[in-house]
Amino acid sequence: MATVYLNGRYLPEDQALISPLDRGFTYGDGVYEWIRAYRGKPFLLEEHLARLASSCAKMRIGLHVTPLEEVVRRLLTENGLAGDAAIYLQVTRGVAPRSHVFPPPETRPTVFGMAWAFTPNPAFAGAGAIAVLEPDVRWSRCDIKVTSLIPNSFSAQRARELGAHEGLFVRDGVVQEGSLSNFFAVFDGEVRTAPLSNYILPGITRAQVLDLGREHGIPCRETPVFATELGDADELFLTSTPYEVVSVDRLDGRPLPPERPVARRLAQLYRELIARECA
Ligand code: PDD
Repeated sequence: MATVYLNGRYLPEDQALISPLDRGFTYGDGVYEWIRAYRGKPFLLEEHLARLASSCAKMRIGLHVTPLEEVVRRLLTENGLAGDAAIYLQVTRGVAPRSHVFPPPETRPTVFGMAWAFTPNPAFAGAGAIAVLEPDVRWSRCDIKVTSLIPNSFSAQRARELGAHEGLFVRDGVVQEGSLSNFFAVFDGEVRTAPLSNYILPGITRAQVLDLGREHGIPCRETPVFATELGDADELFLTSTPYEVVSVDRLDGRPLPPERPVARRLAQLYRELIARECA
């Protein structure tokens, strides 16, 4: 059985128990990170922990994130994960009597972590993702990585029922991001993606891909991509920790052109970064 981390202790998963009055349970009041390890080495850990700290600060959850680096490493060793793995960290506002108002500041957050061997979606091996557009019905703080993921879950489920992998959220005509990824389009060799705002998650993979593109002379612009423009796009692709860089093969049933030089190059640069960082 997997060993998980809960509030300072490493326990068999079935012994890690939390109160039903945890705010994560009663209010979905928590934040999380989904991290990848390659060859047993956490990838972009500092960036993920910085975003977790930022999510906590935006949520006014008082957490000292620093020891979590040790938690991530220990979860990998405790579970014998020397290959490719995923690590999930969650922090909630803690246990408190049910009240919409925040509990007193001394309430201790609940901190949970788990890790498991991860294999990328086999559907993306040698192929791309199938995506469908949908209205963005989420709240207006999509920049915080909150555990209240009902709209994202609905979106992923709707995609699955339509034979797709990912829903793409459209708000005010702009393709903001996917159910669990950031979204990019390529027009005449230029990469475009929605600018950082309260309507998208500041994806760790997104930031790396933009940096890699700019370093290697691929023009990249953070500017809205309108749903009405998608018919003119040469390539569409998605980025996220589990996906890395994945081309879109079909959008709303329409096939995209089969040549994807920009997405392929960025995917390759990203793989090279992983190889360097997790040698
Ligand atoms: N989600 N946008 C949304 C809405 C996401 O849920 C995710 C990732 C991303 C990509 O972020 P990053 O590159 O930092 O992984 C963008 C994780 C994987 C999840 O919810 O499980």
